[in-house]
Amino acid sequence: MKILITGANGMLAKSVKKRLEKENELICTDVAGLDITDEQAVSKFVADCKPEYIINCAAFTAVDKAETAGEIVEKINADGPGNLAKAAKENNSVLVHISTDYVFGGDLDVEKDYNEEDAKAPVTVYGVTKLQGEEKIQANTEQYYIFRTAWLYGDGNNFVRTMLNLGEAKDEISVVADQHGSPTYAEDLANIIGEAIEKKIPYGVYHTTNQGYTTWYDFTKAIFDYTGTSCKVNPVTTEEYIEMMKITQAKRPKNSQLSKEKLLAQGITVPEWEDALRRYLKEEGKMV
Ligand SMILES: NC(=O)c1ccc[n+]([C@@H]2O[C@H](COP(=O)([O-])OP(=O)(O)OC[C@H]3O[C@@H](n4cnc5c(N)ncnc54)[C@H](O)[C@@H]3O)[C@@H](O)[C@H]2O)c1
Repeated sequence: MKILITGANGMLAKSVKKRLEKENELICTDVAGLDITDEQAVSKFVADCKPEYIINCAAFTAVDKAETAGEIVEKINADGPGNLAKAAKENNSVLVHISTDYVFGGDLDVEKDYNEEDAKAPVTVYGVTKLQGEEKIQANTEQYYIFRTAWLYGDGNNFVRTMLNLGEAKDEISVVADQHGSPTYAEDLANIIGEAIEKKIPYGVYHTTNQGYTTWYDFTKAIFDYTGTSCKVNPVTTEEYIEMMKITQAKRPKNSQLSKEKLLAQGITVPEWEDALRRYLKEEGKMV
């Protein structure tokens, strides 16, 4: 199959390319080759290469910077997917797009998780613009997959690498213990995307994180446990962390746990987050 990948230099895109390159013809572009905010360029590019699938891995992903970055965030996260959806529709391509748990408000009881159709109430510019991106896709084409993921790590700067660096440099660190979600290994998300395309599951929105829920604090304890890092981890609230670090930060959802029931019903394999973390750390040469 001919597959166009946009934002192809990003962390998730690297795993997607690895997963799909053997059996497909991939056309990989990033902002220098195809800027997804340029409607005419997108329309021409897609018309010229006529891919069966477009996988959009491009986004403005810096959640804190997005608060003050201005209109570029909406252009990339909302207009870009809209442009791709129009081009996909014109050329009968299927659009695969990645969205986020941050489209939800996060004030849900921690015993509960979000289904795909639950009410959206993003609390950040990043979340607001990602939700607009979803809506623009839905308004412009029927042949789409929107995969909402969360707490992604893989071949790029990410929380696990940051914690491992901190763990080597410090004797103890404080980590937020009141935000609940699912860490997600980019390789597992790439597999889910691959399986979804190959199985031709029904179009629509799916929650696609690793299985199980945790907090940043317990996630860090697992990272240190699996790597034999002796650094002590202290649990703090989000408010305490902001005060302690003297930082301003975009608001974060307290609970953005995503139910995978809809995805599992399609017979797609979704590994547990602890298993995923162990495979990642092994791949990084950090497991003891
Ligand atoms: N990283 C996370 O924790 C996380 C969590 C939830 C959802 N997501 C979503 O997953 C997807 C992939 O995230 P990632 O962490 O791999 O992103 P990333 O930041 O590693 O990569 C994004 C890529 O998009 C490219 N890009 C930016 N503007 C562009 C433009 N105008 N045109 C074309 N390309 C452009 C960048 O050059 C970069 O290569 C995104 O949609 C993101 O919103 C990420």
